Amino acid sequence: MSDAARHGQQVFQDKNCIACHQFYGLGGYMGPDLTNVISTRGEAYSRAFIVAGTARMPNFELTDDEVSAVVAYLGFVDQTGTYPPKDYQILWTGNVAQADDPR
Ligand code: HEC
Repeated sequence: MSDAARHGQQVFQDKNCIACHQFYGLGGYMGPDLTNVISTRGEAYSRAFIVAGTARMPNFELTDDEVSAVVAYLGFVDQTGTYPPKDYQILWTGNVAQADDPR
């Protein structure tokens, strides 16, 4: 993980983003899952939410540096996998096989 992403992880924890958001389906359910928000929505889109907040998401008044760090952290998480899992198969053994992530 880059230094920026590590910093972003700290901000993400300090501001308790997981109270409303999920990674891999785990977390609070007021806001959307953020596992793949960077690859599906993009950095500019994500940054806009984090900078401004919405009627339902607070504006955390983060500095530019903190916003970039959180975006770097979300980018790091995005690299770790895909949620929800795609192209999986349940084998006769009961195990689940997932096709290689194409990204
Ligand atoms: C009080 C609940 C709450 C907290 C805390 C919260 N969010 Fe959100 N967030 C939302 C909601 C709800 C949405 C969906 C937009 C809407 O409905 O207004 C959202 C949307 C987003 C989006 C856009 C996602 C998409 O797929 O459209 C991003 C990115 C995001 N939040 C990041 C963060 C980060 C980073 C933090 C912590 C610094 C955070 N949020 C904290 C409620 C929250």
